[in-house]
Amino acid sequence: MNSPKMPAIGVLTISDRAFRGVYEDKGGPEVRRWLEPRIPSSPPFEMRIVSDERDLIREAIEEMSEICCLVITTGGTGFGPRDVTPEATADACEVLIPGFGEKMRAKTWDRVPTAILSRAIAGRRGTCLVINLPGNPKAIAECLEEIWPAIPHAIETAGGPDIEAEGAAPAPHDPPEKSCP
Ligand code: MTE
Repeated sequence: MNSPKMPAIGVLTISDRAFRGVYEDKGGPEVRRWLEPRIPSSPPFEMRIVSDERDLIREAIEEMSEICCLVITTGGTGFGPRDVTPEATADACEVLIPGFGEKMRAKTWDRVPTAILSRAIAGRRGTCLVINLPGNPKAIAECLEEIWPAIPHAIETAGGPDIEAEGAAPAPHDPPEKSCP
């Protein structure tokens, strides 16, 4: 990253079973495995797991947004009785960014019709970009491939650092400043 203080990348797994330790968390490590080689400046990763509780998820996002420029959540985006990740994300964020969820669903559902079952959203809290992903490790890679090109510029737009990133769309630094690629 080009800023003097290197904010962390946050990865928040949301799963009752992973939180209780009865199920190995595969989602969080998959998010990290996907992101690490694409950010050559090697930012620190903040990894956490919480159960599917709306207030606990909101609190975790709030805490992580203090030290992270990006928080990716994984899990809890469906519509089962315990799935509350989008609601908790909306609670924590000041601004919602519909395009990330729209693109994930629109671009992956040809391959995976059940992609439309995810209610994943994204938003900004302070200067931190927060993005929900489904919990399935395969879904994580499928979705990140679609939205990654926009993430570095979105981080900068949120007030975060100008991160060096492989495969990202160029940020529109030249005037007019308000235009996006
Ligand atoms: N999106 C993609 N690209 N690939 C997938 O395999 N799984 C879907 C959906 N989104 C999937 C996907 C399924 S089966 C569910 S139930 C929802 O994400 C919600 O998953 P979650 O509750 O683990 O977040």
